[in-house]
Amino acid sequence: MRTNGKPQTTIWYDDQNQCIVIIDQTLLPHRFEIIPLITLQDYCCAIRTMQVRGAPLIGVTAAFGLAIALSNDPSINNAADASEKLLATRPTAVNLRWAIERVHSAMGQAPEQQRASIAMQEAKKIRADDILICEAIGNHGLPLIHKLHQHKLQQQNHQNTTLNILTHCNAGWLATVDWGTALAPIYKAHQAGLPIHIWVDETRPRNQGSSLTAWELQQQGIPHTVIADNTGGHLMQHGLVDLCIVGSDRTTASGDVCNKIGTYLKALAAKDNNIPFYVALPSSTIDWTIDHGIEDIPIEQRDAKEITHMTGLDAQGKISEIQLIANSPAANYAFDITPAELVSGLITEHGLYSPNQQSLGKLQQRLRALKTNI
Ligand code: MRU
Repeated sequence: MRTNGKPQTTIWYDDQNQCIVIIDQTLLPHRFEIIPLITLQDYCCAIRTMQVRGAPLIGVTAAFGLAIALSNDPSINNAADASEKLLATRPTAVNLRWAIERVHSAMGQAPEQQRASIAMQEAKKIRADDILICEAIGNHGLPLIHKLHQHKLQQQNHQNTTLNILTHCNAGWLATVDWGTALAPIYKAHQAGLPIHIWVDETRPRNQGSSLTAWELQQQGIPHTVIADNTGGHLMQHGLVDLCIVGSDRTTASGDVCNKIGTYLKALAAKDNNIPFYVALPSSTIDWTIDHGIEDIPIEQRDAKEITHMTGLDAQGKISEIQLIANSPAANYAFDITPAELVSGLITEHGLYSPNQQSLGKLQQRLRALKTNI
């Protein structure tokens, strides 16, 4: 995607400085800063503090982190130790484990002196694949938006009509390497000239919607409006939402979807108002080992300070923090589970799948035939 008119990705190898660099997402939308990641500790810190975030990008970053750790010490023990440290940074997004396993399996039984370079090559491949996968998600989601727009046009006697799409959190290019997941079909629709408008849930407590999604859409010139998290249900009741698309941090083999806290409430409201609710995700987000989202997915609980305090620009233009809550305790659950029955469909890089074991079983077979992912 483009920032200030120039093509940009979220993570890349800087040839000049010979290191991986990232956009520090904690400073957006107020400052655009690129920072280097040098040590394993830098990688762990970047993931934990959410300088990089979003399930696919967490996976790509972790793969590079493991490769860097191996370049310092390629022993099996160090590989295990570095993997454990990276895995502990964010417990919910399954792409982290998937990417680390992919690097380990690429290294296989390779001799010690080759392990670091194999790991780095594989991390670069995971990064490159992520771009293709997310663009494919966009291509598979586009016909869905097109069809809904045609339907709305017919209903409104072919008068100029805009399709209103609601999204939650940030599942745009900032959450991946490029394109994004939930926003990829939106970018494709915009490029295809379809008239769309996006309702952007602010997504408390860290405001990934108002800070990141809104910034992304504004950079691409896509009409959008930021709304408080509680607004979606009201808009749906008044016919102002035609479609919801969200991302996922982990989806079970039976189609239960774990995503940013608040997603479940949007899905309930969409069901009550007969509005299609789609989830866009790479197949690496599917955890084939589990079937029951509520019981089996560990929900990350983050620092209560993310609820009690807020960061933004002050009147002097400085990024500063304010305290919102006096002395009450706060609980900060980062994700929730949307049961499969509330999901209309899963948009993947291999096409559209229904959120049930039978349909996802077909995707699993396809991945096995392609010898990817599992
Ligand atoms: O806590 P975050 O910002 O990492 O959460 C991100 C989300 O919940 C996204 O919707 C999800 O990772 C899908 S992104 C492609």
